[in-house]
Amino acid sequence: MTTAAYLQGHLAPVSDEVEAFDLAVTGPLPPELTGRYFRNGPNPVPGTDPGHWFAGDGMVHGVRLIHGRAEWYRNRWVRTSKLAGATWRDDEGHLDLAAVNANTNVIRHADRILALVENGLPYELTPELDTVGPVDFGGRLTTAMTAHPKEDQVTGDLHFFGYAARPPYLTYHRLAANGELVHTREVAVPGPTMMHDFAITENHVVWLDLPVVFDVELVGRSMPYRWDDGYGARIGVMRQDGGDPTWFDVEPGYVFHVGNAREDKRGRVVLDAVRYGRDEFTALWARLRGAGDPTAMASSGAALLHRWTLDPATGHVTEERLAEQSVEFPTINDAFTGRACRYRYAVWDESIIKFDLTTGAGSHHHAGGGVAPGEAVFVPAEGARAEDDGWLLTIATDRAARGSDLLVLDAASMARVATVHLPRAVPAGFHGVWLAD
Ligand SMILES: [Fe+2]
Repeated sequence: MTTAAYLQGHLAPVSDEVEAFDLAVTGPLPPELTGRYFRNGPNPVPGTDPGHWFAGDGMVHGVRLIHGRAEWYRNRWVRTSKLAGATWRDDEGHLDLAAVNANTNVIRHADRILALVENGLPYELTPELDTVGPVDFGGRLTTAMTAHPKEDQVTGDLHFFGYAARPPYLTYHRLAANGELVHTREVAVPGPTMMHDFAITENHVVWLDLPVVFDVELVGRSMPYRWDDGYGARIGVMRQDGGDPTWFDVEPGYVFHVGNAREDKRGRVVLDAVRYGRDEFTALWARLRGAGDPTAMASSGAALLHRWTLDPATGHVTEERLAEQSVEFPTINDAFTGRACRYRYAVWDESIIKFDLTTGAGSHHHAGGGVAPGEAVFVPAEGARAEDDGWLLTIATDRAARGSDLLVLDAASMARVATVHLPRAVPAGFHGVWLAD
């Protein structure tokens, strides 16, 4: 029996939980980088094959930086009820929203650290990566929670949604800055799609109703979704304070990850995201099930930065390609979530790319031959005056799993400032966060 690609090389899961102290560092670590970098990703328990890269048990890798030192590294599985044997859907079809992998993202909101996956409840973690348990906000959250919530940096509100294979297909939620779930409402969509991400602007929520739909024939396999030519493709613009979305028909494509969205002076919503065409998505989806290297798509012209300008007053939408460079895992300076901003960071092959959307210029940092960097998390400098005044943090892993480093890049120049040498090869994963002290 052959081993699936998502269990090999730089994706190979680790078999245990470890910790290491006083890590070796090359170059000066900025002393003000005092906090924790946490990154989530799939790490199936030894001897298991989940059938899809996205379906492995969640493991968070953490690096503690303090006053110019790398104090520790540790990794921990997110100890969900599923890890302990519970099943997400029982024989009667009832869902247990706590029986999930929690393998996709880590956030902090209202002083709680949460590990997220889009088909269930978040799990609270301690700053030492121990699992506290599932969170349903005092019983108010009765749907799944996306792994890509958006925090409005002005109000402190956390906007998110849950999607499902059965009605209600899409539900919008909002946490207040104090962590209380204060708003929930159903959003009408034509069918059950795989909705991985969304966007906010100052006043709106932006929905991606795209043609990757739930297929009951695939139940029993991991990720029972497939491309459907008959579904069409729509982007919805919905006011946060109430009402139904205005829907815009767009060219069919799929988006895992949004760059950002904003409102312009004419009241239009401008959204950018990394977009796959039909053939690119279907090829990727097959690879994610184990054929070939599922992360190699970012180097094969598959996914391009794309912009939609949506005018609720006229119902008119325009689309344009922003770059010819295939990328994934777009990030921004999160202080600009939902507001106009100039820079996007993303991953391409062995490099972290920086796009300047004002000039159209691109620059990059090459992580090294045979080395795969992951998502680059932006950390603002103290007293930052420019949008790109800060650092990018990413874990880069040797494709032969010989080792991993935490790279610290200067986000303005894209030069490497420091390299924290991690004590083990960290499997390539999904999304991370910097938690400043
Ligand atoms: Fe994601």
